[in-house]
Amino acid sequence: MSALVITGGTVVTATRTTRADVRVENGRIIEVGPNLNADDAQVMDATGCYVLPGGVDVHTHFDLTVNGLKVSDGFESGTMSALCGGTTTIVEHPGFAEDGSLFTPLADTRTHALNRAATDFGVHGVVSRVDENTPEDLATLVHGGVPSVKVYTTYAGRLNDDQLATVLAAMGRENGLVTVHAENHAAITQLTADLRAKGETTPPAHPASRPGWCEAEAVQRLIALAKAAGNAPLYIVHLSTKAGLEHVRAAKAEGLPVYAETCPHYLLLTDERYERPGSEALQYVMSPPLRTPEDREALWQGLADGTIDTVATDHCCFSLQQKIERGGNNVFDCPGGIPGAETRLPLLWSEGVAKNRLTMNRFVELISTAPARIMGLAPAKGDIAPGADADIVIFDPHAPRTISPEALAHPADYTPFAGMEVPGWPRAVLLRGEVGAREGRFTGRPGMGHYVPRTPDIHRSNARQSQGYQRITEEP
Ligand code: URP
Ligand code: ZN
Ligand code: ZN
Ligand code: ZN
Repeated sequence: MSALVITGGTVVTATRTTRADVRVENGRIIEVGPNLNADDAQVMDATGCYVLPGGVDVHTHFDLTVNGLKVSDGFESGTMSALCGGTTTIVEHPGFAEDGSLFTPLADTRTHALNRAATDFGVHGVVSRVDENTPEDLATLVHGGVPSVKVYTTYAGRLNDDQLATVLAAMGRENGLVTVHAENHAAITQLTADLRAKGETTPPAHPASRPGWCEAEAVQRLIALAKAAGNAPLYIVHLSTKAGLEHVRAAKAEGLPVYAETCPHYLLLTDERYERPGSEALQYVMSPPLRTPEDREALWQGLADGTIDTVATDHCCFSLQQKIERGGNNVFDCPGGIPGAETRLPLLWSEGVAKNRLTMNRFVELISTAPARIMGLAPAKGDIAPGADADIVIFDPHAPRTISPEALAHPADYTPFAGMEVPGWPRAVLLRGEVGAREGRFTGRPGMGHYVPRTPDIHRSNARQSQGYQRITEEP
């Protein structure tokens, strides 16, 4: 592959904003600096654009089957759309293994993504059974390129407190990371049964059946269990509430290695969406549900002050047709999950950077650098620096778009963000130096994405480093 020099843009990383060219050779960044010699290279003009490290989405379900129903996309169309929106690496959360095995979901996910994925990809482990072999199996996983596992406190594969404690201790010993879907299952079960008994099964019953305090309770409990397990590293996925956030803030103030992720839908949408007429409201059925405006504002504050570490999507695309077929008569039968991988960067730029809630550097940290570091993908991913993979987004801040299903590369029959206007979009997206998308259209090939083994984060103790960013508002 010949050399490539990206010229004339403004390079934005989590810590710096500089006018610089970027030289790429053999899929890696070789040099970053002003006025690089490009005589022997192909030139890509980035004038008027920001040059960002490729987005890292550490929470996707491109390959999930729940209750016999498979999501409507797959690794091929899912990762293509992610790439078109500026994401170059994803980390997939697989479903529960039928036999409870730790290893089958990893193998299956890799097989399904191989030769299909358009982004680089990693896989989280998932623990739905705990026995005497679990600690040793987890060590094997952590040292075999999978330093993170998911546990659930609800759904069929949920673990009880004793099992959670075992997993936290075993992972903590290996400096691995336990990620958790935190909601109190017994409370949700009780509330759901009461609503069903009263015949309340329309969309507003969904948020009523899993209120914010169900999340807050589980977040607090998991932090306590992680603390008891010798301060085991803990990562709360899709945090949606102010009350849950407060528990994370307190844990960080204590110096515990606790991380939090939120998603664009909790930052942009609120629970009045469940009042929409007919099947329209089913577009917003995901768990945890959309919350109040007060929760939403608290999450923005959490992003700005460092309490929340990452923004991932929880992309889990059951189509509107699937939602209506299963849940049209009873919201409790509606498959939960929404698309979002393609719109993550443009929406967070629009609502965060363009509205002065986030600096550009903090934006890059949230969508790329921090998720890459926490999930063990650094230093290859998450930075524009010599030696890093040439995963690069040429972001045009003046390329307005109105979000709609038709305007997206994603083949879904809806987007929960329809009608939202964003000021900018990636002009080009490079994966290891190869251009995979231009102006939101896929120009790459299925299978251009590779599996990426990950390593435990050696900087875990520096978790709170992220708050020292400077505010730079230079135009490109
Ligand atoms: O409703 C959702 N979010 N479905 C995907 C699985 C999960 O809970 O993350
Ligand atoms: Zn070890
Ligand atoms: Zn979840
Ligand atoms: Zn999820």
